[in-house]
Parts: sequence; C-alpha cells; structure tokens
Amino acid sequence: MSVPTPSDDGHLIVVSSLGAAHRRTFFETVSAHYPIWLFVGGPGRAQEPSWELPYVVGHTSVDTLDADAMRAAVRALPEHVRVRGIVCYDEARVVAAAKLATTLGLPAPDPDAVLRCRDKHLTRTALDAAGVPQAQSLAVRSLDEALAAAQKIGYPVVLKPRNLAASFGVTRADSDSDVAAAYAAAGEKTLPEVLEHHEDGVLVEEYLDGEEISIDSACFDGRIEPQVVAHKLVGYPPNFLEMGHTVSAGDPLLNDPEVREVVIGAHRAVGFDTGATHLELKLTSRGPRVVELNARLAGGLIPYLGRLTGGADLELAAATIACGEVPDLSRTDGAPVAAIRYFYPPHDLVVGELYFDGSALPASVERAELLTAPGEPVRLPPRGSAWESYLAQAVVTGETVSGCHRDLDAAGAAVVVVPA
Ligand SMILES: Nc1ncnc2c1ncn2[C@@H]1O[C@H](COP(=O)(O)OP(=O)(O)OP(=O)(O)O)[C@@H](O)[C@H]1O
Ligand SMILES: [Mg+2]
Repeated sequence: MSVPTPSDDGHLIVVSSLGAAHRRTFFETVSAHYPIWLFVGGPGRAQEPSWELPYVVGHTSVDTLDADAMRAAVRALPEHVRVRGIVCYDEARVVAAAKLATTLGLPAPDPDAVLRCRDKHLTRTALDAAGVPQAQSLAVRSLDEALAAAQKIGYPVVLKPRNLAASFGVTRADSDSDVAAAYAAAGEKTLPEVLEHHEDGVLVEEYLDGEEISIDSACFDGRIEPQVVAHKLVGYPPNFLEMGHTVSAGDPLLNDPEVREVVIGAHRAVGFDTGATHLELKLTSRGPRVVELNARLAGGLIPYLGRLTGGADLELAAATIACGEVPDLSRTDGAPVAAIRYFYPPHDLVVGELYFDGSALPASVERAELLTAPGEPVRLPPRGSAWESYLAQAVVTGETVSGCHRDLDAAGAAVVVVPA
C-alpha cells in the first residue's frame, strides 16, 4: 500500500482509528482517495498510531473525546494541512467529532441528532414522538422501577445500559428474578471512555422477536439512501453476543417498502442527515421494529461485506460526504454472498497459544484475523463481551448463504487456542 500523495484539495481528519482487524478496510479504501490526518488519544492518554501509519500523512495525539481540545489541535496543524472534512466511526467519539466539524463549518450532522442516537433513551423518545415502530422502552433508576417496568411491558424484556455499546450489559429477562440479575449487570458495567452518567441509566424494553437485520445508509443532500442489509447472528442467551453477519447481493429487504419507511422515518425522527449510519432492526411478527440507530459507519466489517457483494463503498462514501461531495453509490460486480463470523473459546481462559491452522482454512476466506494475543484473558458473557470475549474472525465470500456458513464453520474449526 503506497502512501497517498497529499492533495491540494485538503485533508480528511479521522477521529480515532480503533483496531486494525476491524477498521483496516476503511483506511485501505479512503487513503487511496483522501490524504488522511489521524487524531488519536483519550483523556490524559497520549497515543501513537501503529498499523495506521501506511495510510496516513500525519497524526496528532489529542484527547479525541474533547471537541475543544481537537479544535485547538486543528489550529496547531502544519500550515499546508487544510481540513476539508471530519469522519468518526468510534461510538464514544461521534458527538465530539460532530461538534468539532460543526464549529469548523464543515459538513456534519447536527451534534444533537448524533447525541439522540448515542443515548438510547433519547433515541427511543424521538422515535416514539415520530411514531416510528420500535420496542417499548422505559428508563429506570432502581431495581424496583425495573421490576415495575418489566411487569408493565410484560415478559420477556431486555435490560440494557442506556449509552454503552458492543452489547455490554444487554440481557434478556423472563422473570422477576432474571430482572434482578440483568439490572445489576446493566448498572454495574462501565466502559472507561463513556464519561456520561445518568441516574436513570438502565433501559427496560419489550423483547422484540424475529430475525435481526441491520441497514447501513448514506445520508446527504436531504437523502437517506439504504445501501447494505446485513443479517445478524447472535448467541450466548440470555446475552446477545455478536456472532456474525451475512450480506447477500440483491437482498430484497433493501427495497422493501416497509423497511425503507422505518429506515427513513428513524433518521428523520432523530434529525440525522449527514454521513453514514447503521440502523438495527428486528423483523418481528408485527413488522420491522427499531433496536437502535448508530450515527456512524457500522462495525463488524459490514461496509466491507457490502463492498464484497458489489455494493457501494460506504466507507469511502462516509469520507466523501464529510468532505461535502456527493458519494458514488453505484453497484459493481461482486460475490453473491459475503459473511463474517466471530470465534469464541469454549470457556473462559487466558490465551497461551492462538493461531489459524492455515491448511484447514477454506479457499473462500477473504480475511482471517486473530483478535487477541497470548497472555490475554478471554471472558464469555455475562463476564465479558466483544473484545473481552472473542478469539478471531473470518470473512468469506460464496455463491450461497449456506455455503458461506459452512465455510465459516470450517474457519472456526481452524482456530487453534491453547490455554496458558
Ligand atoms: N428490545 C430488544 N428486543 C430484542 N433484542 C434486543 C433488544 N434490544 C437489544 N437486543 C439485542 O441485543 C443486541 C445489543 O443491543 P443494542 O444494540 O441495543 O446494544 P449495544 O450495546 O449498542 O450493542 P451493539 O453495539 O452490539 O449493537 C441487539 O443487537 C439485539 O440482538
Ligand atoms: Mg446495537
């Protein structure tokens, strides 16, 4: 990968990069079109890029949770760096990035709209006011309130923290005693970079039945353009661990009028209009219902799966929109199906050895990456989620959904983990 030539048209600031396995695809595609200047770091935490270096023309270590600190960092950029747009796909930083872009007069979503997505209670309130179909949801501040909410909604219910991510502390509850455990799990969990605290910080929600899908959209010029439908696989009940996603070229749900109405209605309800989004839906027996709307590019390599199936390049579209241009949403030839799977250990362990048995990996594997390293503890739900739980991931392409899933089973069997 060659270093892109800085262009006279200006630079794209990317706020936070996250892990290579999850976000290298963004840097690969965007750096071929825009010179990237990376902002990395957290509160009181200086940071240096590593895997990102081949893709960026420069970087600044700054508290990327702090819009004012980032504005000062923009002022301190070398004279030849002209900021043309700002992109952020890190859930903890989307509000700060939107504030930064807004104060610089760059294309951006309204920071209040982004906050309405970031805070699941504000999302629910906005969708409710607009009549967008979703789960009934109540914010509670005590176990007694949680029990009363569960009884009012009716079992089963889902309890979740109001503003975390990656399914931390999200649990299904089928009875009063389940609610007690789920309330404790949702209330106890914190993530070091989520600074906001709400007294009524736990949501009790109606359990939405049916298949789970997500829809990723490009939003610009007053248009909400759905681009990728991914079918989500979850596991480890009563928790909701992300197991994988499957994308099919020409998925009829992309043009399903009822789904499109919910997608567009949800965006209008929160007021999000500029950038890429990730909307999670359950296809319930009563129709599509919103789980949540993320004001950012999806995780789980979903935009990359979309691209593998011939869909528009949403990662590039996010950058293009951030720079005030109209994204290219045309489709190309691709695989009929692309899918990702996360691989988890059979039980909690500390990793001794971890590798893929290369001879056992199917030829359809596009990418296979280890997600943890020797010496690291791995904890399954309810003790851990996401990066605390997984060992590895693989992406495959194929002719059919069942063929992709068979190949992903084989890729999972090729993961070798030896406990320390
Ligand atoms: N009301 C609900 N009914 C049924 N399932 C739900 C409900 N709310 C959440 N879930 C399940 O839990 C998962 C995680 O919930 P949610 O998306 O609200 O939290 P999150 O922490 O933002 O998770 P992630 O970042 O993994 O999307 C959902 O993808 C879905 O599978
Ligand atoms: Mg979610």
